[in-house]
Amino acid sequence: MTVEAADKETMVQPLDLRELLLERLRIPLIGAPMFLVSGVDLVVAQSSNGVLGTFPSKNARTAADLVDWLDEIGQRLGESPFGVNLVAHASNDRYEGDARICVDMKVPVIVTSLAPAPDLVAEVHAYGGAVLHDVTTVRHAEKALEAGVDGLVLVCAGAGGHGGKLTPFAFVPEVRQFYSGPLVVGGGVGTGGGVLAARALGADGVYVGTRFIPTAESLAVPEYKDMVIGSQAKDVAYTPYFSGVPANYLVPSIVRAGLDVGEVIAARSRAFVSGSRHTVKAWKDIWGAGQGVGHSDGVHSAAEIIDQIATEYDTSRGVL
Ligand SMILES: Cc1cc2nc3c(=O)[nH]c(=O)nc-3n(C[C@H](O)[C@H](O)[C@H](O)COP(=O)(O)O)c2cc1C
Repeated sequence: MTVEAADKETMVQPLDLRELLLERLRIPLIGAPMFLVSGVDLVVAQSSNGVLGTFPSKNARTAADLVDWLDEIGQRLGESPFGVNLVAHASNDRYEGDARICVDMKVPVIVTSLAPAPDLVAEVHAYGGAVLHDVTTVRHAEKALEAGVDGLVLVCAGAGGHGGKLTPFAFVPEVRQFYSGPLVVGGGVGTGGGVLAARALGADGVYVGTRFIPTAESLAVPEYKDMVIGSQAKDVAYTPYFSGVPANYLVPSIVRAGLDVGEVIAARSRAFVSGSRHTVKAWKDIWGAGQGVGHSDGVHSAAEIIDQIATEYDTSRGVL
């Protein structure tokens, strides 16, 4: 065998995201990372029940906490994969340090948001991990692919947090015109029928956030869980008021915080400065959720939610 062939043989292969989604998981579903909501227990519950659990690195309050979280998740999950979301934004001064920790601790799946990072992709590939990148526009999808990411998450209209504006019926096929690799789609998915619809559109899997907010394992406070359970799509407002980037929030939480809902909904740019004009904090007091809030009917364990979606997925496959 030549040296090159031997090198190739011993070279670590990046995790195959499509194989993971379609062959290793029970349903092709990623528990989406949610600021102040996804923690160790939710990720472990998701990844040990046949879907891929993820959390944003900043949910661990410090870099040292992140190391502890990764240690605990690794111990509790054994071989089952999970993911960490790294948000590359000027306001996130933890990005570099958290990325280093995730590489050193060989996190199986990294989900990057905002700026894709080719150097990080190379480092993750070197230990056999994979990088997914989330995007809300076709242009950003192209840029992420140029950076060498292993898969894309198309965050569509109605998604909780910084949701996009495109319907998946247009977004997925448009991206499929130039990309045949692993593709995940999110935004309001919370039923097995939604998973099947995403697969029928050409996606390999779905990204589900809001449906997991009112789970026993989520870090959301009880009032937040109750508000999700009591809300419907009409109770979700898409506004740049709080961060400058439009995001979906629960209107009753805006009312509860004493803010002028009309002003919040009509805002065309950021108008909220936490701590000065207002004492409430975005995300902590103003609660994020997507248009899929109506899927939730009570607090359940993540395992129960996953069971229900899996059963519905099988049933809808049989019906069609
Ligand atoms: C409360 C909340 C917090 C979120 N925080 C993050 C985050 O920190 N990083 C990120 O990439 N996406 C974040 N998201 C977006 C989710 O990862 C995902 O795109 C979205 O929840 C999918 O749509 P769905 O909520 O309709 O299922 C957040 C969503 C919610 C509801």
